[in-house]
Amino acid sequence: MDAAALAGNAHLSGTIDYVTAFDAIHDQTRPLDALKGVLSLLKPDGLFSMVDIAAGSYLSDNKDHPMGTFLYTVSLMHCLPVGLVDGGMGLGMMWGRQRAVEMLHEAGFTRVDISEIPDDPFNLHFMCRI
Ligand SMILES: C[S@@+](CC[C@H](N)C(=O)[O-])C[C@H]1O[C@@H](n2cnc3c(N)ncnc32)[C@H](O)[C@@H]1O
Repeated sequence: MDAAALAGNAHLSGTIDYVTAFDAIHDQTRPLDALKGVLSLLKPDGLFSMVDIAAGSYLSDNKDHPMGTFLYTVSLMHCLPVGLVDGGMGLGMMWGRQRAVEMLHEAGFTRVDISEIPDDPFNLHFMCRI
C-alpha cells in the first residue's frame, strides 16, 4: 500500500500493536501523511518504531559528523530526488532529529523517546506513542 494513504482505512484503523519503519520515512513524498497513517493504524497503547538517520536538522549540527559528507551526498543523489517526485516534500535523509520530532508531534504522536542503537551509528530509534 501507499504509506501516505493508510489513514482512513476502515479495516486497519486502530488494529495494530507495533509498526516499524526502517529508513523509509525520510524518502516519502508525503511524510506527514505517512506518519498520520501509521498513527491511525495503532491501537491506543500501540508503538511505532521509526528508525531513521542519526543527524541534526541543521548543517551546523553535522559539521563534525564522521559520516556527514557521505550522508549528505547519498541524500542529494537518492533521497531528495525520490522525495521530490510528484511535488513531494523532498525531506532528504539529513532531515534530522529536530525536524523528525516536530513532524511526529504534528502527526499526533504525543510521546517520542529517542535512543541510540548499539553497533548502528547511522541511525536513531524514535519510539513513538499516541
Ligand atoms: C531507503 S528505502 C528503505 C528500505 C528498507 N526499509 C531498508 O531499511 O533496507 C525506503 C523505502 O521506502 C519505500 N517507500 C517510499 N515511499 C513509499 C510509500 N509512499 N509507500 C510505501 N513505501 C514507500 C521505498 O519503496 C523504499 O523501499
